[in-house]
Amino acid sequence: MPRIAAALALALAASTAAAWAAEPGPARQAELLHLLKQDCGSCHGLTMKGGLGPALVPERLAERTDETLVEAIVDGRPGTAMPPWRFAVTPEEAAWLVRTLREGLP
Ligand code: HEC
Repeated sequence: MPRIAAALALALAASTAAAWAAEPGPARQAELLHLLKQDCGSCHGLTMKGGLGPALVPERLAERTDETLVEAIVDGRPGTAMPPWRFAVTPEEAAWLVRTLREGLP
């Protein structure tokens, strides 16, 4: 029995890691970039240099973990102007947005 539990835990860990690293397809990436510029940009600035929301530039994001940033996107920051985006992006897509922002917008 413990063997099965260990195997199950391993399989779960592997599938979570895979979901985390999953890349959205090219068409979806284009949609997400559009969302980033149009919707996120309305608060964070068209070039992510900040506005009503803080700058989302690589230097500043380097101080934050992926978890913190993905959570902010998916769940929003209650009590602030940052809304939850769960209705529009999955946690995997939010992780991709974070990776994209960390590299700097193309
Ligand atoms: C209505 C304005 C608004 C919109 C639209 C908005 N944000 Fe935000 N966002 C904020 C504010 C304000 C904060 C700072 C919250 C705080 O004080 O913790 C924030 C915080 C964040 C953070 C955390 C930054 C950090 O340093 O911890 C991330 C990441 C983020 N937003 C990404 C996004 C993305 C991606 C989108 C679009 C899908 C988006 N935001 C749309 C206002 C907005």
